[in-house]
Amino acid sequence: MKKLFLGLALAAATAVGAQEKEVNVYTHRHYDSDAKLFKQFTEETGIKVNVVKAKADQLMQRLKAEGKNSPADVLMTVDIGRLYKAKAEGILQPIQSEVLEKNIPSNLRDEDNNWFGLTQRGRVVVFHKDRVKAEELSTYEDLANPKWKERLLVRSSSNIYNQSLVASMIANSGEEKTLEWLKALVTNFARKPKGSDRDQMRAVAAGEADIAIVNTYYLGKLVHGNENDQEVAKQLKVFFPNQNTTGTHINISGAGVVKYSKNKDEAVKLLEFFAGEAAQKVFAQANYEYPVKEGVKSSELVSSWGNFKSDTVDLTKLGKYNKRAVMLMDIAGWK
Ligand SMILES: [Fe+2]
Repeated sequence: MKKLFLGLALAAATAVGAQEKEVNVYTHRHYDSDAKLFKQFTEETGIKVNVVKAKADQLMQRLKAEGKNSPADVLMTVDIGRLYKAKAEGILQPIQSEVLEKNIPSNLRDEDNNWFGLTQRGRVVVFHKDRVKAEELSTYEDLANPKWKERLLVRSSSNIYNQSLVASMIANSGEEKTLEWLKALVTNFARKPKGSDRDQMRAVAAGEADIAIVNTYYLGKLVHGNENDQEVAKQLKVFFPNQNTTGTHINISGAGVVKYSKNKDEAVKLLEFFAGEAAQKVFAQANYEYPVKEGVKSSELVSSWGNFKSDTVDLTKLGKYNKRAVMLMDIAGWK
C-alpha cells in the first residue's frame, strides 16, 4: 500500500513537473503557420510555448532592457539583418546541437551557432503577364535599365528585406557600383515607395506599374487570399533574377537561443523541432517558404514557379553591410 502511494505521488510529481516545462518565445514572425507549429510542439513534447509577438526592433530592445531578468528563451525573426544584429548585440548564446548542424546547411546558420536559418525566401521580380515578357527580364542590375522607367514598384528603403537585397549587391559588386545602380533604379520607380510587398503586387495588377520586387511567399498568400487577391495573383508571374550570374537573392527567417535563457534545453528542443521534417513541411506548405532541410519539398504552388539558383553569398555579410546599404539607399533617394 505504502509503495502504491509512493508510486502515485511520484507520478503526480512527474505530471506536474512535465506541465511546468515551458519555453518563452519572442517572435517577429507574423504567420499562422507558427501558431500551428507551437501547438504541435506542445503536443509532442509536453513543453508549453508562451509567445510574445512584436516588431523585431522592439523585441530586441526589450531583450536588452530586460537583460538577465528576461523571461525570453528563444528569439525568432525574419531577416538575416536582424539575426546578425542580435548576435552582435550579445542577445543570443551559442548552442550545440547535432540535429541543427545536420538539418541546416552551413551557409544558412551562424558560424558560432548563435542563430539558425529555419526557412528561406527568395526576393524575386513579379511581372504582369500581358505587359511584360519573361525574356525582357534578366538581373537585379538590369532593373536599373531605362526601359523600366516608371514601371517598377518596390516598398520603402526602411524595409529590411530591401536593405538585405542591397547589402547583397554590395557584397557581390561593391559599394560604388551599387550606388550607381541605386540611383538609376530609383528613377524607374512608378511611385513613391509605400505599402507592403502584397500592395506592390496589387498595384501592378491595377496597372500602376508592370513589375515589382517582392518576397516569394507573399505571392503564395495572394493566390490563397480573398477573391480580389486571387484575381491579382492571376495577373502575375514570377521571375528569378540573376540565374546566369550570382543567383537570386535569398534571405532567411531564423531563431536563436537568448543569452539569459532559463529554459535552455527546451529552447534547443524547439529549434530542433523547427528544423525537423514535420515542421519544415508546415513552413513550406502553410507559408509558402522554402525549407532549409534537404529533402523536404516545397509546396506545389511554390514548385510551380520553378527551380532556381540562389545567391550563395555568406549571409553574415548581409548583416555586416546593412548600415552601408541603408546609407546608399538614402543617398540615392530611395524613400
Ligand atoms: Fe514577411
